[in-house]
Amino acid sequence: MFVEQQVALQPYNSFGIAARAQHLVRVRGADDVRAVLAGPWAQHPLFVLGGGSNIVLTGDVRALVLKVENRGRRLLGENDKSWLIEAEAGENWHKLVHWTLMQGWPGLENMALIPGTVGASPVQNIGAYGVELQDRFDSLDAIDLQSGREFQLRADQCAFAYRDSVFKHGPDTRWGASSAMGLAGRALILRVRFRLSKRWRPELGYQDLERKRAEHPGAPITPLQVFEWVCEVRRAKLPDPEVIGNAGSFFKNPTVTPEQCADIIGRDPKVVFYHLPDGRIKLAAGWLIDACGWKGKSIGHAGVYERQALVLVNRGGRNNPCTGGEVMTLARAIQTSVYERFGIMLEPEPVVV
Ligand code: EPU
Repeated sequence: MFVEQQVALQPYNSFGIAARAQHLVRVRGADDVRAVLAGPWAQHPLFVLGGGSNIVLTGDVRALVLKVENRGRRLLGENDKSWLIEAEAGENWHKLVHWTLMQGWPGLENMALIPGTVGASPVQNIGAYGVELQDRFDSLDAIDLQSGREFQLRADQCAFAYRDSVFKHGPDTRWGASSAMGLAGRALILRVRFRLSKRWRPELGYQDLERKRAEHPGAPITPLQVFEWVCEVRRAKLPDPEVIGNAGSFFKNPTVTPEQCADIIGRDPKVVFYHLPDGRIKLAAGWLIDACGWKGKSIGHAGVYERQALVLVNRGGRNNPCTGGEVMTLARAIQTSVYERFGIMLEPEPVVV
């Protein structure tokens, strides 16, 4: 195990914020984690870094950064109903999606081009265009960052919800330590398994994909075709982090009661909303932010993307990047104005470090 000192994190976070890890270890397997836990670093706070596509760095990281870099992907097995695919946590998510399609194993195509790594995908239950990770998830292997013990979690043990899982919550101590549930900061995901059905059906329920289908009448709807449409829609709407630093959607879409929604419609009839199966209503946070006039605005070098108000971007590029403080100041200003106008407090999606 080799501990690197003063490592620049700018290449390792998709915002392109300049910050350093005071100490960093590259994890290429469970043994690297166990080596850390067996030595003096075991007493030091640890921070797990995947693809860095869902974090805002507000300063240098003092915790020992465990940068997940284990690679490999494979077909573990199949039966007459499905394929079981396994990928190591350090694999790039989009490359995994593309590879599975090339092998003839469809199912992940709606989640094409989501930045980040395989290991980060269950943490916030990534999703796009009507499919969430939990719909294709089988199980994962992780390592306990206190004991070094490896363990497996099935879907029902991950507490998946909209952009949420057991990995985003700290231990719940309300009922005593024995019922501690949250795994935030306590586990490092080593690999993830996906169950892909052999009875493939395209998921084209989202307006953007319906539009693509209407533009190409008669085109055969194959998994690769859906993949290409998703890539086209995302490229048109969302900034490529390689070109303009960002962390995807900065806020979650809030849910409200039908009464709250009726109240907002009364004042703003154009508000965009979706009915959820449980009777509640999800509002488009991008629309709320846009309605408050934030599109294209900036604080320092942090800005609101011109084509999608839900995405905050780094306008200073690599040479003159925004700071995490600027991003959070902008985020708080947006929260305040959305709250003042609609009475809704937006919740940020990325982890603030
Ligand atoms: N809208 C505006 N102005 C804006 C942005 C959006 O009026 O500036 C309106 C749009 O016209 C549309 C509605 O708001 O009617 C929703 O926008 P969009 O379809 O772009 O999707 P979203 O709700 O903003 C969510 C996810 C994305 C995911 C897409 C597609 C969240 C927080 N975001 O975005 O996920 O790709 O749906 O499924 O759930 C991410 O999490 O990083 C992410 C990109």
